[in-house]
Amino acid sequence: MKPKFFVFANQKGGVGKTTLAAHMAIHAHQMGYRVLLVDLDQQGSATYLCTGDGEYHQTDENTALDLWYPDRQIPIQQSPVYGFDFLQASSALDVVDDDLEAAILALRRLETLETDQGRYHLVVIDCPPAPGVRQVAPLMVADKHIVPVTPDALGTQGLLSIIQTNLESILPVNPQLEFRVLINRLKANSAKNHATAKELVEKIPEWIIPHLLFDREDVRTALRLGKPYWELCRDDGQKDAWYQAFDFLLANVPDDDDDPNLRETDEPKDAEAALASQELAAASEGG
Ligand SMILES: Nc1ncnc2c1ncn2[C@@H]1O[C@H](COP(=O)(O)OP(=O)(O)OP(=O)(O)O)[C@@H](O)[C@H]1O
Ligand SMILES: [Mg+2]
Repeated sequence: MKPKFFVFANQKGGVGKTTLAAHMAIHAHQMGYRVLLVDLDQQGSATYLCTGDGEYHQTDENTALDLWYPDRQIPIQQSPVYGFDFLQASSALDVVDDDLEAAILALRRLETLETDQGRYHLVVIDCPPAPGVRQVAPLMVADKHIVPVTPDALGTQGLLSIIQTNLESILPVNPQLEFRVLINRLKANSAKNHATAKELVEKIPEWIIPHLLFDREDVRTALRLGKPYWELCRDDGQKDAWYQAFDFLLANVPDDDDDPNLRETDEPKDAEAALASQELAAASEGG
């Protein structure tokens, strides 16, 4: 089975792409999925979360760039902080920005990538805030486009142009793409923020993830401690909202139990073993 690709992309900066991509990877990993987080942003924020090292992406060796070279191995690492696998950013990632086809081929390598346990169930891609190849190519291979937005005038304005681009340029090529909007950094004491969030929920109910994520200092604290926010959060409402939002996104991602290929090979083997032990038991009773 091919992994599902979840792409966190919005050309607006600071809306929470990296924070939410990391939470997606943490949740999937905690649920037992094989998950790979790919950092395509040359700022390396996801790489920083995975390693705790702000300089880690200042290299062009053993990074996501290697995807673009079919003769190079894909340099997967395991996050010492969270335990899931990641493919780190390089500060030189912008050298690939002139060739969309090459970027699509590069990302498609992840579809057949084998780990010791089998293919990944989920590939989470954190995109740079600039529109361009490293935002469009991931959407061309994506199953879900997750757009974090802040519930304010600028956030909603940007959303319209994203929807337009998806309809005009991405969906004709990748009709399987599901579009999901995740409201983040809602300021709890801002009536305007609440009104904008409500308006979004009413206007595009089919696309909105029905859990509102508030702007809370503890989100930053949690990530500094290497934990998802729901493990630190003291507000039950928000704790649930964060957990449920990522659970909602993960809902239809198949795991090994859903893999018909694994089931077909597993069941006869188990059945044979069961039969063999029954035969043995019968033989020893008879003897
Ligand atoms: N719900 C939240 N509450 C509080 N802080 C948040 C929340 N979500 C994100 N942040 C903080 O906001 C800042 C920007 O978040 P993040 O880096 O995830 O955004 P981004 O969209 O990936 O930014 P960029 O466009 O630069 O890649 C970070 O300091 C992050 O810790
Ligand atoms: Mg980011």
